[in-house]
Amino acid sequence: MRTEPNINEIEANKQKEIMERLKIRIADKSKELGRPLTYCSVCFGCQMNAKDSEKLEGILETIGYVRSESEDADFLIMNTCTVRENANLRVYGRLGQLKKYKKKNPDMMIALCGCMMQESLVVEKIKQSYRHVDIIFGTHNVFKLAELIENKLNSKGMVIDIWEGTTEIVEDLPSERKYDFKCGVNIMFGCNNFCTYCIVPYVRGRERSRKPEDIIAEIQSLVADGVVEVMLLGQNVNSYGKNLENPISFAQLLEQVEAVEGLQRIRFMTSHPKDLSDELIAVMAKSKKICKHLHLPMQSGSTKVLADMNRRYTKEDYLTLVDKIKTAIPDISLTTDIIVGFPTETEEDFNETLDVVRKVRFDSAFTFIYSKRTGTPAATMEFASTEEEIKERFDRLLKEVQDIAKETCSKDQGQVLEVLVEGVDEQDASLLTGRLSNNILVHFPGDESLIGTFQNVRLIEAKGFYYLGERVDN
Ligand code: SAH
Ligand code: SF4
Ligand code: F3S
Repeated sequence: MRTEPNINEIEANKQKEIMERLKIRIADKSKELGRPLTYCSVCFGCQMNAKDSEKLEGILETIGYVRSESEDADFLIMNTCTVRENANLRVYGRLGQLKKYKKKNPDMMIALCGCMMQESLVVEKIKQSYRHVDIIFGTHNVFKLAELIENKLNSKGMVIDIWEGTTEIVEDLPSERKYDFKCGVNIMFGCNNFCTYCIVPYVRGRERSRKPEDIIAEIQSLVADGVVEVMLLGQNVNSYGKNLENPISFAQLLEQVEAVEGLQRIRFMTSHPKDLSDELIAVMAKSKKICKHLHLPMQSGSTKVLADMNRRYTKEDYLTLVDKIKTAIPDISLTTDIIVGFPTETEEDFNETLDVVRKVRFDSAFTFIYSKRTGTPAATMEFASTEEEIKERFDRLLKEVQDIAKETCSKDQGQVLEVLVEGVDEQDASLLTGRLSNNILVHFPGDESLIGTFQNVRLIEAKGFYYLGERVDN
């Protein structure tokens, strides 16, 4: 029996029809110019944004644009991030420079999308001061790029399409993969946590999980296409599946992913400590495919600051969780995110953060100075410390984190471990770069033909955050 197509299928089919029409228009234009039309895709922000960019690139390639790394392409798309103020400043800087390309090539189209566009003040500013932008859309309607391009070709003004939110997840549209052998897979969108410093819930909307069967089908088709490693993506993967019609836990999803034949490595990001279950630890401990790496953002080591951040765990909860994980999976590599200078942070609170850093001994930590995001609860909080004090704390933290990481990351020196070869070393073309299960990179002599394969490598010399190695026959 044939079931009625649902709203998402109807939308996907509509977009595919528009892509067919655009294919003809773009081929005609390219004939007229006697050269292919090019696109350049620039992405700021996190893995979620990178994944959205792959979808945008898939649409652009489908309609006939050819990839170019240069910003003076016929179609330039910038996928923006707004998690910290300097992410926004970078976009404005780049936008100013683009005017000159548009003067040279008046048919050039500039499109902006992503998290920054979900802020109305940003869109107002672009409308007023950056009139050379052609298309603006947000985080909820990435699948509509073809339609927006068609609208732009049929009209003169700026095309703006921002959705406040959505419950829809449109499946089955093209996506262009950056690597042949590994790929990010969205398992959920949005965030419900409202950490008081963070803008993500406002620009990415409420949490929505994809159905497990859609995720597994996507992974199966990726594997059939040569992918051996997937990274499951979500702002808080540990709360995956809770709101589905047939609820399922993240650990249960992982077990289903593990069962996909041919898939060899599974990674995921990001885990919120408050939702990390014993079930997940048990599944990770017995898994043959889940990588020995957990990114577990702590943000602060002070229970008071954590409460002000609305993180919903204490310093002790965090330390207990880390102990549990290390006991169950002794060779796990732990990484984290830390914010310095949250408004209510005092010197005493900062010392609590240092204390956790020393106790946990992270393999690496991303450290950020708190950046005020208008509209978030923390934006109206008073600062307990001066800018100088915060800067000085940041430097102290960075040194501590780096000193510890150097030691922690060197612990496997001399061992032979398996890497997935990701490419040619960027600095030295005679070397390949591979990634260990624990996410650390190894550079070793070898031939390009090994890219995408697993190799056993002896870790000869620890260099702090990476190793130099040599291949050992498999
Ligand atoms: N969903 C992930 C994090 C997404 S944002 C999680 O909850 O862990 C990535 C990191 O940016 C955060 O972990 C946090 O450390 C940092 N960040 C978010 N908002 C920030 C702000 N306003 N100022 C400074 N850093 C911030
Ligand atoms: Fe932001 Fe917190 Fe959601 Fe992470 S969990 S995206 S830090 S609100
Ligand atoms: Fe930035 Fe949006 Fe990711 S704000 S960090 S690109 S979810």
